[in-house]
Amino acid sequence: MQEILDKVDQLKKEIQDTPLSTSEELEKYRIRYLGTKGLVKELMSEMKNVSKEMKKDFGAKLNEFKIFAETKYEEYKGISSTGKESAKEDIDYSLPGFPSETGSRHPIQIVMNKMISIFEKIGFTVTEGPEIEDDWHNFNALNLPENHPARDMQDTFYISKNPDWLLRTHTSSVQVRVMKEGKLPIRQIFPGRVYRNETVSARAHCFFHQIEGLYIDEKVSFADLKQTLYYFVKEMFGADVKVRFRPSYFPFTEPSAEMDVSCFICGSKGCNVCKHTGWVEILGCGMVHPNVLTNCGIDAEKYTGFAWGMGVERTAMMQYGITDIRVLSENDTRFLDQFKNVV
Ligand code: DAH
Repeated sequence: MQEILDKVDQLKKEIQDTPLSTSEELEKYRIRYLGTKGLVKELMSEMKNVSKEMKKDFGAKLNEFKIFAETKYEEYKGISSTGKESAKEDIDYSLPGFPSETGSRHPIQIVMNKMISIFEKIGFTVTEGPEIEDDWHNFNALNLPENHPARDMQDTFYISKNPDWLLRTHTSSVQVRVMKEGKLPIRQIFPGRVYRNETVSARAHCFFHQIEGLYIDEKVSFADLKQTLYYFVKEMFGADVKVRFRPSYFPFTEPSAEMDVSCFICGSKGCNVCKHTGWVEILGCGMVHPNVLTNCGIDAEKYTGFAWGMGVERTAMMQYGITDIRVLSENDTRFLDQFKNVV
């Protein structure tokens, strides 16, 4: 028994001193220590001759030896195939690393960022408001009292816990919050997500994004509104794009208008995107209604202002030739990967 343990120690030393630098040496090593007739097996077979009391200690000792012999073999296995001395020498540091997958910016965010930076250049700052709103900020303050027929223009998701709470139907609610703060003049934009209870289809979704703008100061006129939005369109879509204003109705502005740009998908010849009219509506706008100013504590005799609200999805769809709005919220990486190098 002691004899075998001495042998184990002696073999350990021998293993330590065995050079393994070629595949032949490695194979010899494998056969001598780890092969089916190797020394590890041979020692293991001694187990049957060991007394019951000694079995545990003896087994542990042999196991340790087995692992010792195997570890050396594993360490050198990869190296010997090239006959090199050390594993480190086997690494080619000039090889490029494994590429790591990076994400991409979402097309909605790309378009929003572009819109925001255009307005930032002319002094607008960005403020965000809550997506869960109360009825007053979303409707009442914006000159839409209860039972006002224009409330039907936007089908609303109400929150069942409290019928006064809703998912904002437009970013115009942030106008109200900023005006209420009372710091004038105001020159701000409000990007964000909005919700409407609409049937989801290729053209409509129950949530989408808007950027709202608000400019309030003394002597602000409709001419200022037009120039601001002309500037935006040229920066966003290019100098060749034509613009037209159509009279419209929004309870929170008077007068109100909608702005169209000439369809740059078909060059105004007529296509599905412009519904064969040559024009695409991109925003609603107008002079802030005096009732709204008053509701928010602003002196409507002294101050005037303009506001607009535009959809981001439609612009993104035009810009990238997207024909189904649903792909913008499905997070299919085959779609998103196409925006990898866009900033
Ligand atoms: N809130 C309107 C909508 O979601 C868009 C809008 C129209 C915003 C006119 C405005 C505005 O600020 O002046 O349809």
